[in-house]
Amino acid sequence: MKNIIKYFPFVAVIALNVLAEGSGFRMRNVQPFVLIIAALLSVNFIFALIFKVKNYFMYGLTGVALIGAISVVVLPDTLGQLYIENVIVGLYLGLFLIAVFPPIFKLEPFTFEFSKKDYPQAVTEGQQFLKINLILNYFWAVLFALGMVLTVITYHSDDAINTIIATLLPIALQIIIGIPITIKLPEYLMQKVGSEQIKFNTVKDMFASMPFGLNKERASGINTVVQFFLTGEEPIIGHLIITNQKCTYNQGEHPNPKTIIRSDSKLWLDISNNEVSGDKAFINKEYQIEGDATIMLKFAELFAPPAKASKIEKVDPVTYNYKHFEPKKIKNIVVFDGGYRSDKNSKTTFMVNHFIDGAKEKGANVEYIKLKDYNIKDCTGCYTCWTKTPGECIFDKSKSLNDDMSVLRKKYREADLVIFSSPLYIFNVTGIMKTFMDRLLPVLQPYMLLNDNGSIMHPDRYPEKGEQGFLVFSAAGFPDVAHNFDGLTGMFRAWDSHNENAHLMGEFYMPASEMIVQPVYKARRELIKDLCIKAGNQIIEKGYIEKDIMNKIQDPLVSKETFQQQADAFWESLDGKKSYMANVPKIN
Ligand SMILES: Cc1cc2nc3c(=O)[nH]c(=O)nc-3n(C[C@H](O)[C@H](O)[C@H](O)COP(=O)(O)O)c2cc1C
Repeated sequence: MKNIIKYFPFVAVIALNVLAEGSGFRMRNVQPFVLIIAALLSVNFIFALIFKVKNYFMYGLTGVALIGAISVVVLPDTLGQLYIENVIVGLYLGLFLIAVFPPIFKLEPFTFEFSKKDYPQAVTEGQQFLKINLILNYFWAVLFALGMVLTVITYHSDDAINTIIATLLPIALQIIIGIPITIKLPEYLMQKVGSEQIKFNTVKDMFASMPFGLNKERASGINTVVQFFLTGEEPIIGHLIITNQKCTYNQGEHPNPKTIIRSDSKLWLDISNNEVSGDKAFINKEYQIEGDATIMLKFAELFAPPAKASKIEKVDPVTYNYKHFEPKKIKNIVVFDGGYRSDKNSKTTFMVNHFIDGAKEKGANVEYIKLKDYNIKDCTGCYTCWTKTPGECIFDKSKSLNDDMSVLRKKYREADLVIFSSPLYIFNVTGIMKTFMDRLLPVLQPYMLLNDNGSIMHPDRYPEKGEQGFLVFSAAGFPDVAHNFDGLTGMFRAWDSHNENAHLMGEFYMPASEMIVQPVYKARRELIKDLCIKAGNQIIEKGYIEKDIMNKIQDPLVSKETFQQQADAFWESLDGKKSYMANVPKIN
C-alpha cells in the first residue's frame, strides 16, 4: 500500500503529460482530467498522512501537481495554460526543489532513503553518511535542473532528435549515471574518508565508519567476529564481523564471537582516534580482551588506508645449501643450550623444546645440556690439544680445575646431530656458548684439507664416527634478521665449511622474540611451536628440514612501526618500577 501511495504522484504527472499532449494542449479538453487527477492526488496525500509515508518525492510531486491543477482552474488562460504545456518541466522543477530543500532546511536528504539500503543501520546513522548524502542530493539537483533545461528548450518540437534530447536524455542520465552513483558513491567516499585520520566524535560514529575503512588487502584471509562491550559515557554493545575482505558492524551481541573487548567507551574512542596508545592501555590493563587477542595486533593496520598502513617487510628467504642426510639416519641428538633463562622464560629454549618433542615423536634419543650448569674454562690458545696431547685439552688433566669440557666434548662428538642453542647476545651467541665452541678445537686436527672447490678445512679427529649434522637455534629482541643474525650465520656457516664432518642442517632464527608471550602474538607463538615440532619430525624421518619452516620462523609478522610502539609501551610499563622476569608473561 505504502508503495502505491509513494509512486502514485509519478504516475499521475506522467498521465497528465500524456493527456495534455494528446489533447494538443487545449485547456478545455484537459481541464476535466486535471480535476480528476487533482482529486486523486489529494486522496493519495491524505492516505500518505494516515499511513505515515516518509517520502519527499511523494509530497514534492503532489505539491507541484496540485499547484499546477489549481492554476488550471483558477488561472486557466495564463498560468494554467503554461502548466499544461510544460507538465514535464513542472515535474523536473518539483524534483529539483525536492533535492535542494532538505539541505537548506537541514532535513534528511532525499537520497538517504535510497542510498541507505545497502548499509547497516549503524552506518546510516553516522555523520559521515549524512554528509555523503548531502553531496548526493546536490548531484541529483544538478541532474534534475539539467532535465528541466533540456525539456524547456525542445519541448514542443516533433523532431525525433529533439524528442530524444528532451525526454530520453534526461531519463538516461538519471538511470545510467544517477542511480549507480547513488548506490556506489557512499562506499567510495567512506573509503576516502578512511584515508585521512578522521577524528570521531562518538564511538557510534567510529563503528559506523569502520566497515568502509577496511583495508581489503590486509583483511585477506581474516575471518573473525569482535564483540564490544563498552561502558561509561557511551555504553554500546555491538560487534564487528570481518570476513571475505568485508567488515560489517551490528548492534547487539553475537552468539559466537572470537574476541571480546571490554572497555570504557571514552578510552576506546581515544584509542581509535590515536590519542591514547592502545598497546600501552592494554599492557596497563585499562581494557580487557577475552578470547583471541591476536586480532588486536592487526586492528590498526586493518583499518588503515593502503597508503598509510605500515609495511610488514618481507624477510629474505633462506637460500643456504643445508646438508641432507638419509632418512632415519639421525638417532642421537645432543642439545647445548648457551642461554641463562629458564624454560619458562627462554624463547630460544621454547623453540628447541618443541623441536625435541617432534624428534622424540619419531624415535630420537635426546640429551639436553644447559651450559651454564657446567664448568668451562676459556681456551688459552696453547694448542696443546693439537700438539703435545692430540685431542686432549691442557685443562682435561687438571683435577683441581674441575673443568667439564672433556665430558661435553665426548657427548658432542658422539651425537648424530648437535643443536647449538643460544639467545642472540650482541649479534652473536652468548659468551658461554662461544667459550664452549672454542673448547671444541680438540675434536679437529690442525692439518688443512684443501678441496677441489677451493674450500679449506680441518680434518676430523674422529672420522670413524662419521658425518655429523648440526642445527642452530636463536631468539633475538630486534624484529629483523638481516644485520642482526649476521654474526650467527657467519660463524655457523664457517663452522660448516671449515670442519670436515660437521654439517649445517638448518638455522632457526626468531626475531622479535620477546613479544611472543604477549596475548596478541598467540597466533605467532602457536605457529612457531607447530613449525618446530614439524622440523623435529622431519629431521628424523626425512633427514632434512624444509626451508619454508625456517623462513616462517624468521618472519616477525609485524611491521617495524607496530613493533616499536608495542616494545616501547612494554618497556615503559616496567621502566624504573618493575622487574622484567617477574612481570613478563611466561611462555607456554
Ligand atoms: C646482553 C644482551 C645482548 C643482546 N643483544 C641483542 C642483539 O644483538 N640483537 C637482538 O636482536 N637482541 C639482543 N638481545 C635481546 C635478546 O636476544 C632477547 O632478549 C632474546 O629473547 C633472548 O632469548 P632467550 O629468551 O632465549 O634468552 C640482547 C639481550 C641481552 C641480555
